[in-house]
Amino acid sequence: MIKKCLFPAAGYGTRFLPATKATPKEMLPVLTKPLIQYGVEEAVEAGIHTMAIVTGRGKRAIEDHFDISYELEHQIKGGSKEYLLDEIRALITECTFSYTRQVEMKGLGHAILSGETLIGNEPFAVILADDLCTNSPVILDSARGSINTKGVLSQMIEVYERYQCSIVAIEEVPMDQTDKYGVIAGDLVDRTDDTYRVTDMVEKPDPKDAPTNMAIIGRYILTPDIFDILRETKPGKNGEVQITDALLAQAKNGKVIAYKFKGKRFDCGSVDGFVQATNYFYNENKGN
Ligand code: G1P
Repeated sequence: MIKKCLFPAAGYGTRFLPATKATPKEMLPVLTKPLIQYGVEEAVEAGIHTMAIVTGRGKRAIEDHFDISYELEHQIKGGSKEYLLDEIRALITECTFSYTRQVEMKGLGHAILSGETLIGNEPFAVILADDLCTNSPVILDSARGSINTKGVLSQMIEVYERYQCSIVAIEEVPMDQTDKYGVIAGDLVDRTDDTYRVTDMVEKPDPKDAPTNMAIIGRYILTPDIFDILRETKPGKNGEVQITDALLAQAKNGKVIAYKFKGKRFDCGSVDGFVQATNYFYNENKGN
């Protein structure tokens, strides 16, 4: 069982300056909902109710978001706008949120290691909130003639239950974009569920050095031995401790499965992806 989801949320969000000068990038809204709330909802849909959030300086708005605002509740109680708080209230009631700070910015691997204190010795999920994922009911799974409406994390948990090792979500990207992602190579295990046994992984390779165009997106299920590996992992690409490098150590023992997820992903860490997500969700929600 996967019971906890870790959200690394300490990054500066420099691509969104000046918006992110005093606002955490995870709090930027797609329509009326901050990015991190979409992530938390995806975790809940996957049956997870314990959220572990790795923050940093200037990220307090995240804690306030997942808490009651008595003044606000009092102001809008009984009014026509009260329903706008329904979703977030439900999350606050259903879930627990705990926080720890990444004191120094030493990369995603280091951020995940900082979360060890909240996770303990059990397998856990990781969501990078700036990869906004959705699997809307209209997406037809034509291969199997069925409709798959499960969220990406939910799909990954099913894969984890089968393989009992670390799982990364992947998507094919244009070859000239491999330097934006962790990239994997692997052997196809099961064509019907799009799983690969990972044999190699490289963080943000130049297209000429990339083993494939299969890019890791911001969803992981990690087994807890990853923490010991991360402790030993030397800084890699850009001088940062990379989760990709730590996962490679597991992959060398055949313990990483890559899963081509069903659904859509928007790179909300970039302005283009953010605008695409906004347009997509606007069109999906029209008329609601
Ligand atoms: C991180 C990871 C990278 C992964 C990406 C997914 O990079 O280091 O391997 O492909 O997330 O979004 P970042 O986007 O934080 O630079």
